[in-house]
Amino acid sequence: FLKRRKRWSRYPPGPSSLPFLGTMLQIDFHNPHVSFTQLSKKYGNVFSLQNCWTNLIVVNGFKAVKEALVQKSEDFADRPYFPIYEHLGYGENSEGVVLARYGHAWKEQRRFALSTLRNFGMGKKSLEHRVTEEAGFLCSAISSEKGRPFDPHFLINNAVSNVICSLIYGERFDYDNKKFQRLLHLIDQALDEEAGFLPQLLVVVPWLLRIPGVPQSIFRSQKEILDFTNELLKEHRMTWNPTQKRDFTDAFLQEIEKAKEHAGSSFNDNNLPMVTVDLFTAGTETTSTTLRWALLFMLLRPDIQCKVHEEIDKVIGRDRSPQMEDQANMPYISAVIHETQRYGDIAPVGLPHMTYRDTELQGFFIPKGTTVITNLTSVLKDETVWEKPHQFYPEHFLDADEQFVKREAFLPFSAGRRVCLGEQLARMELFLFFTSLLQHFTICLPEGQARPREDGRFAATLRPHPYQIQAVPR
Ligand code: HEM
Repeated sequence: FLKRRKRWSRYPPGPSSLPFLGTMLQIDFHNPHVSFTQLSKKYGNVFSLQNCWTNLIVVNGFKAVKEALVQKSEDFADRPYFPIYEHLGYGENSEGVVLARYGHAWKEQRRFALSTLRNFGMGKKSLEHRVTEEAGFLCSAISSEKGRPFDPHFLINNAVSNVICSLIYGERFDYDNKKFQRLLHLIDQALDEEAGFLPQLLVVVPWLLRIPGVPQSIFRSQKEILDFTNELLKEHRMTWNPTQKRDFTDAFLQEIEKAKEHAGSSFNDNNLPMVTVDLFTAGTETTSTTLRWALLFMLLRPDIQCKVHEEIDKVIGRDRSPQMEDQANMPYISAVIHETQRYGDIAPVGLPHMTYRDTELQGFFIPKGTTVITNLTSVLKDETVWEKPHQFYPEHFLDADEQFVKREAFLPFSAGRRVCLGEQLARMELFLFFTSLLQHFTICLPEGQARPREDGRFAATLRPHPYQIQAVPR
């Protein structure tokens, strides 16, 4: 391998490799974005790493990330193959969407997911009503805490995941449903299981998975999540009427029927749980983590919270629910939500990409099949772009007249062909949930409690450390 790398004269520089492990010891897999940012100071915006025998390059800073994801979108649109998930059913034609290789199956599933979610309301009034209703349930549950200190984590998780559940399975789950609460805890655990050195080692040395018991013991929660999903899908099949489409699952079942004559279709029984789990987990964890950051930032910055309250009182008042139309008249809230996403930085290293063909980036040669990490932290906190990259500063998104301004380097959803499929849904949820919560409550630090930490805990996403709030009715 090293001989081959020497032949690529314009291959990006990087730290020197050790036998077998390559450069793996240079990375803190519990804080990869921090390691990447430090290494970029030494090796530049495009540098190379080697996880055992696997070539990786890390792309840093707005300019280089934009060149890769936007200007050379197709060259960087592939994903590495993940044999570590084969024991769950991931494989040819059943790769779901999120980790699907760039090709026919991914295109088919991405197109289908987008159009079906739209048919069931994504970006439309019907879904807006569903989110507003769920925000009402969430506010009632918080009211019933009667101003006592509590951790909002799983209430928010439940509310957010009910929105995607309504779309996929046509049902929501009450906040005291023990089985569903267990599922939400499992998703949380599953993210922890994927973090750290060992899972990364298994990605690049998959034969270690042949050691009996290894996959089961490392990815225990994922198996349980899949079992839960299969149970929901089984119930669905039993009540399914092929002439009706209640939700995403029904639409997928119809496609399976249509595809029965076509060998090799990605609409098959194995892929149904893969795709639904993908949408369910991607649609739950990311948005609810962002909302948890938003509440934490409000708790830590009462002056900003006060301005948010003022804008809500001025534009919406206290008697009606927020609507998406209000957003255009609420530049401050829009700026606060955008700044929460920027500063909260919940997907610091995005998802891994892979080069689909030989290509060039910032003058470097990147061969086909190289794993590519886009360091989104380095974009959202790019010191050449943001005025105060390491502070929570909503003014990043306001002009001199206090009107909302878009920023090109705002890439929390990534960009290009693999850009987040749920961006539109997430934006709607963030605005409606956040505005409803702040319309009803003042978020305070419970008396006598220490100021919560503001640094994140990395496990696929960057999440706040557990904290408690006191939600005082307004
Ligand atoms: C992919 C962020 C909400 C579904 C991604 C990626 C990021 C991201 C960074 C990786 C893109 C890449 O590979 O370059 C976020 C954030 C969210 C959010 C910050 C909320 C604040 C959602 C929601 C859904 C969703 C609500 C539900 C439908 C997906 C899917 C992909 C994805 C299916 C894979 C797309 C593909 O590979 O083609 N998201 N996401 N996300 N997201 Fe989201």
